[in-house]
Parts: sequence; C-alpha cells; structure tokens
Amino acid sequence: MNKTSMILDVDTGVDDAFAVLFAAMHPAIRLLGVTCVDGNTNVDQVVANTLKVLDAAGAGDIPVARGAVRPLLGESKYAEYVHGADGMGDLGIAPSQRRIDKRSAVELLRDLIEESVDPVTLVPLAPLTNVALFLRAFPETAKKLHRIVLMGGSASAGNATAAAEFNVWHDPEAAAIVFQSGVPITMYGLDVFMRPGVTREEANRLVQSAQTSAQFGGALINAFIERLGVSPITLGDYGAVATAIHPELFTTEMFDVVVDTSSGPARGQTICDRRDSFLKELEPLDLEDSAKVRVVMDLDVEAVRQLWLKTIDKGWS
Ligand code: BDR
Ligand code: CA
Repeated sequence: MNKTSMILDVDTGVDDAFAVLFAAMHPAIRLLGVTCVDGNTNVDQVVANTLKVLDAAGAGDIPVARGAVRPLLGESKYAEYVHGADGMGDLGIAPSQRRIDKRSAVELLRDLIEESVDPVTLVPLAPLTNVALFLRAFPETAKKLHRIVLMGGSASAGNATAAAEFNVWHDPEAAAIVFQSGVPITMYGLDVFMRPGVTREEANRLVQSAQTSAQFGGALINAFIERLGVSPITLGDYGAVATAIHPELFTTEMFDVVVDTSSGPARGQTICDRRDSFLKELEPLDLEDSAKVRVVMDLDVEAVRQLWLKTIDKGWS
C-alpha cells in the first residue's frame, strides 16, 4: 500500500482529536509527528490533549512538539465555549505518560521534513502560527513539502465572525504568510466542514465497542452533542485529513484567494474570487497578495463518514 507521509499541526480540540485518532490509525498514513499550537485552548493544554488522543489510538512513539503560545500579532482568542474547559470535551481522562518532544514545533517540522524519504504532506488543523514561523525560519526545507492541506477559511460565510473562519481569524497574518508561500495549498474550509457528521446513536454504538479508540471517539462525540445540543455532530477537522488521502471523495475548485489582514469587520476572511473570468479581468483581485488555492466545495458525505467510523472501529459495519 502506498502511504502518505504526514505531519499534523493541531489545537486539540474535539474535532482535532477526531483527526489525530484517524491519522494515527489509518494504514495509508505514515504519521511522522504532531505539532501543537495555541488556538482552541492554550498550547500546554493542546499538548496534553494530543498525547491522550495518541494513547486512545494505541499509537507508537510519534513525536509531539509544543509550538506558538499566541498569534503573531494580538492576543489569543480561545474557543472553550465549544470545546470545553480542557479544550477536549472535559472527559476527565488521566494525563498521558507519553513525553513531549524536546524540540520546538518549528524545529520538529524542519527535522521531520528533512529526514523524510518521501515528500511530506503538512495538514494544519488550527491557527497557522506554527506553519508561518516554520516557513519564515526554514524556507529551503519548506520547498521540500509535497503540499499543505489545511482546515481553515471559507469561500462563503464565516463562523468566528460573519466573515471569518476561526483558524484564519485567530491569526490572519500567519494565514497570509502561508497562503502566499508558494507551497501548493488545498483549503478544506467551512463550505464543507459541517457536513460529515456522526449521530448520537452511532456514538453510543462506538462507546459499546471493544476497541479503546472507538470508545474514546464515541465518548467525545457524545460530549460534543451534549455541549452543543445538536445531533449529528460534525467530524470537523478530520475532513481535511481524509481529503489528503482520498481526494476522489472531494470536489475542488481553484480560486484566487486573499486573506484579509485589515482591522475591519472582514479581518480573517479568505476572500475567494468566484466570479466569471471576464469580470475578473475587468477588475482583478489584488494579484500582489493573492494565491491560487484549491478549495474543497463538495464531498461524498456518506463515504467520508464511513471512512472515519471504519478506521477507528475495526468491527464497524
Ligand atoms: C476550526 O476551529 C476550531 O474550533 C476547530 O478545531 C476547527 O479547526 C473550525 O473553524
Ligand atoms: Ca482545530
């Protein structure tokens, strides 16, 4: 089986946990490491949560590094109202015995990409602070990346604000650096993010499974359903990981994209130029600051849902 060598950058985060669980368990992914960043909650809590997810996945010795403690500019804006006081559903799981890697996130990214025999797919599921710092610190190493498949942005509405998606809104300057880096980017944003979901009934079946990973996934979904009061609940960030290994399940379109770094109401918006070409030619988007980005606009919801369920619960049918 051809494996995709992958690094995740996360702010775990309930839906980051769905993604880490999947990436650590899917046989077509070689998970080289996980870097952590301030986002849904503070970076130390993100590290602690991520280590617990790797335990639940039964993962081997995958390096996990601590990254940025705040955005490039401005203050942190946490999302504990969505993810719980501990950032991961407040399940009361004991701390992991795994050790954090001694290297910083940017150093771990550099080493893993330099050491990898195959080109690496970087999958950020969080504010892009670590990735921007890495691109600035080690641009020659960044050129060796195969591509970036990120959860962030929107070609339609926002969630953190009317215009902006949370990960980009949390650190728009970092997002602008990443989008303009020249590394091929696929954006898995809010146009599809909410669509693959798991119901309360499915979560209860997972909790009854003999497998720890499935029990953990089911408990997380139930906690999320309780907190938000809706079922089904989205698998969120996981969709970006699925896009990286199963592109045939997703429909994408190429757009010119600019990240709004102004201080106005559109701060953090990913402005996607979806106009007809003759209108674009009449009045082009700011070509200096725009990037050509592959944006996910549709997906096979049932196939994407089943892929997650069958990966974290081997007995799922
Ligand atoms: C993104 O924001 C976070 O709360 C989620 O983990 C996801 O990465 C969605 O806007
Ligand atoms: Ca996230």
